[in-house]
This record gives sequence, structure tokens and C-alpha cells, in this order.
Amino acid sequence: RQIQLDATRVDKDGHKHFMAKEIAEQPVAIDRTLHAYLSETDDITLPDELDFTKIDRVTMVACGTGHYACLVGKYWFEQIAKMPVEVDVASEFRYREPPVSDRTLALFASQSGETADTLAALRYMSGKADQIVGLVNVSESSIARESDVILPLYAGPEISVASTKAFTCQLTILLIMALKAAQQRGIPLPEGMPSDLRAIPGLIHQSLMLEEQITASSRGLATARDIIFLGRGQLYPLALEGALKLKELSYIHAEGYASGELKHGPIALIEDTVPVIVLAPRDALFEKTISNMQEVMARGGRVVLITDAEGARIAGEGTSEVITMPQVPNALAPILYAIPAQLVAYHTAIAKGTDVDQPRNLAKSVTVE
Ligand code: AGP
Repeated sequence: RQIQLDATRVDKDGHKHFMAKEIAEQPVAIDRTLHAYLSETDDITLPDELDFTKIDRVTMVACGTGHYACLVGKYWFEQIAKMPVEVDVASEFRYREPPVSDRTLALFASQSGETADTLAALRYMSGKADQIVGLVNVSESSIARESDVILPLYAGPEISVASTKAFTCQLTILLIMALKAAQQRGIPLPEGMPSDLRAIPGLIHQSLMLEEQITASSRGLATARDIIFLGRGQLYPLALEGALKLKELSYIHAEGYASGELKHGPIALIEDTVPVIVLAPRDALFEKTISNMQEVMARGGRVVLITDAEGARIAGEGTSEVITMPQVPNALAPILYAIPAQLVAYHTAIAKGTDVDQPRNLAKSVTVE
């Protein structure tokens, strides 16, 4: 099915910045993505050429935010489809000369479809891997042209340098791909899937209601010199993404860590001037994340906990702030928790007075090495 988008008529639509508009558009953007890849009767409608029975591994390559989407995809493919996945940043992958089995599906995620390193990595894989799949927002791009199978994101034009809706649309498609791979390989799908995907736009809409609270807490974050994001399991890449978004927009030094890794070094950074943002949906690793959070609090760390209402009841005491998200089915948490990460970065940048849509030193599409 083809969905036509008119890229020539893009304005801020009453928003102060393109980024604000693009954050707010996510329910509609994901609805479009779902419409493209899920039938009315909830059958997955990915192109027939995608055959996960003839491959035995997936290699995903991208840059920046696309790379973090792929890292979440790795958790989904491994857990849901029981398939081994490797993920790499394109600038490393292209020079490593990794051996490639012809039973590999190679996936390249790029909003612009023009990122030089990702394109070079694609060319390296071309002729070696079984299939080249391009996950792109711009369908008339180099990566789209050189892929065997194109999966358009249908996010609509993304103007702001910081990627937002392309990220959540990439995540949605990666989850659908993992579900398809499981189906084709005879592995039962997680309960409620794929129909639970239909809940994403509504849940994002609810998360966007947190904007007022996040605006207020971002004023407190804007004076920090360093900020740490913690997450575990499928939320670890979201900690990385939250930190990337915050650095590029507010110029505050931010790091994302796997919370279990804290005691192996980063805990030395903890003091009350370093806010720690903990992404903790109530999944199988919730208690472990919370115990890592308590290690931070025991050392005087100022914690902002992002969890759902029950998570807040269990673990909110002693934190400096709780941002209460809607409750979400496990597999959807990375998509939903992208919203507070984006809003924190956006409002911290506003509080600091930086150029939100065009941060210094950055380009929307990096077409040079
Ligand atoms: C994200 O907010 C970035 N500005 C950046 O990391 C971006 O995701 C990266 O340059 C890759 O771009 P692409 O998706 O167009 O390939």
C-alpha cells in the first residue's frame, strides 16, 4: 500500500519549533505506520520478500538515534523471534571488514536515507548478505534506492535536527518485524500481540499530557552540568537516546548507562548536583532497576524516576521527582518512554535558550564521513 505525503507543505503548524510539532505528531505518525504494516484484521503486512526462515541472523547498522532504535530492535528480535542480532554504528562497521554469512539479513536504519557512513556500510554488505533492508523515512533516498526491500517509516517530513517521530516509527516497524520473524519461525507471539500495537498512538497521546510537569522539572535540570540517564534491558538504549537528545539540544553533558553497570565505575560521579533520570517501566527488570536507583539515592543522588502509577507507589519514596507514565504492555515500553526523554531534552533546551531546531555544529543529514 502506498501512502502519499506532501513534503512541500511543511510549516510549524502553530508550534514554536519544528521539534515541538514533530513530538506532538507522533500519535498520527505511528497510526500511519501501523496502517501501512498491519491490516484491519491485525495481520502483519510486511513485504512478502521478507522471509525470516531463510536467514539465521540479522545485522543492523545505523548512526545516532537510528543506532539506538536498532539496539532496541536487538532485544525484540532476540526475545520475541529468538534470532541472533548484531548492531553496530555505521562508522565502525564499515572499516571493520566483518565476515558476513549469506544467511544474514542486513538492515540499515536512516531517517534521511543519505547518511554517508550508513550508505557505505550498506554497500559493504551488498552482495554478501542475503538481503539488504532499508528502514528509511525519505523514500527517494540513496539508501532506499540501493536496498532490496524498502520499509518506509511514514513519519512524514522531519525538519528538526533532533530526530523524534522517525525514532518512534522506526521502533514500531522493528517490533512488527520481530513479530513477523517469530510467526514465520513458528514461535508463539507474546500475549496480546500484534493487536496491542494499536494502543501505541493513544498511549503516546496520554504521555504527551505530561508536558506541563516535564516543563517545570526541566527548569531544574537546565542548571546541571552533567546528567545521567539509567535504564536496563530494552530501556537501556532509551537511556542512551535520552542522553543523546539532551546533549545535542541543551549542550549539557549527559550519559546513558545500563543501570546494572553503575557500580563498575559511573557511580563515582554521583553527587547531589548530578541529576539521575531513571527509566523504569514495570517490566521483568523493574526491581533490579529500582535497586540500582536506590544505590544512587544512598549516595546522595538526585533522582527523577520515570515509571507508571504502580511503580511510583512501590519506588517513588525518597526520589526528588516522579514522572508518572501510563501503564504499557511490556514490549511497547521503549516506544512510550521515548516521549518523556524527548520532552525533557526539548524543555531543558528551551530553559537554556539554545537553538532547538538547529543546534550548533549539527546538520540534519550527515552526508560526509
Ligand atoms: C538525532 O537526534 C540526530 N540528530 C542524529 O543522531 C541522527 O539520528 C543521525 O545523524 C542519523 O541520521 P539518519 O537517521 O538520517 O541516518
